[in-house]
Amino acid sequence: MKDVYILAIESSCDETSMAIVKNGKDVVALTVLTQMQVHANFGGVVPEIASRMHTENITMVLEDVLKKASMQVSDVDAIAVTYKPGLLGSLLVGIEFAKTLAYVYKKPLIKVNHLIGHIYANALNNTLEFPILALVVSGGHTELVIMEDDYNFKLLGSTMDDAIGEAYDKVARVIGIPYPGGPGIEKKALEGKITYDLPRPVLDDSYNFSYSGLKSQIINITHNLKQKGETIREADLAASFQFVAVEELTRKLELALQKTHIKNVIVAGGVSANKYLRGQVKEVCDKYQAKVNIPDFIYCTDNAAMIGAAAYPLYKRGEFADFSLNAESQASIC
Ligand code: KG4
Ligand code: ZN
Repeated sequence: MKDVYILAIESSCDETSMAIVKNGKDVVALTVLTQMQVHANFGGVVPEIASRMHTENITMVLEDVLKKASMQVSDVDAIAVTYKPGLLGSLLVGIEFAKTLAYVYKKPLIKVNHLIGHIYANALNNTLEFPILALVVSGGHTELVIMEDDYNFKLLGSTMDDAIGEAYDKVARVIGIPYPGGPGIEKKALEGKITYDLPRPVLDDSYNFSYSGLKSQIINITHNLKQKGETIREADLAASFQFVAVEELTRKLELALQKTHIKNVIVAGGVSANKYLRGQVKEVCDKYQAKVNIPDFIYCTDNAAMIGAAAYPLYKRGEFADFSLNAESQASIC
């Protein structure tokens, strides 16, 4: 079969990214322009600033990715774009740009769910072996799904309140670690010990997750210590939080491994860049002789290569979007 080149666009949050991906596997070129430093001044992503920066930068990102690939837009077979979930204004910049390219160059347009993109980051330089247990851990989502085949998902459980990445970011803010909190907590935790006794979320047999109780407890601890004029051991608090936050994931993953007997696990989303999490997941999977795949670090956080990988099965099926494509802020995997 002829090689398929997809130009993929991702702009759902604060990264303007484009990639050219061959056959859903090989990253010919990838450009990621992050706005992180700008949003760090505000302690989190400011949606209005994010969309404006996407608008300023998107053409430059296209030029850069084409230059890296030594290709023209006319050389690719399709244009793929993230259309949900994410910040509406940010998504719309990418969608409008993708439509314009598809229209001018007469290329098929493929719409991709960002969360499914995170899952397909595991298909880059790798072959997905079904059935798979997929654990999606990002800034907005915490979901455990069974993937029977390409684009065939069954939701086992999801968070009942905060997402794990959101908890990392909020806890970081409370203990004074700058945005983005996830990598900051991971680094801080390396200097600390698990000394704070934090509550475990409800220990039931469902596959659902909960992070708001843990977050509230940390807010209470820091407020009480501040009121008493006592010092907060930030590193110990970060280590203690991370221990409970990751244990919540591995406990549910272990339950799923026991009950489903599935032997392939993938982890996806920004929080999967966390080395402690990667180690703990590996340990649980080893216990059940399950194979675990986690994307390379650059493909864990938001990037367009994963969108190109997720677009490939849709290209093969001829599932194309029309020019009425619009953005959706909320979405699950299935
Ligand atoms: O997938 P992603 O880049 O964007 C969303 O789709 O949400 O995930 C961003 C989230 C943020 O909450 C960020 O703090 C978290 O991933 N994150 C991490 C790490 N790197 C990014 N959390 C823990 N440890 C990390 N190393
Ligand atoms: Zn993401």
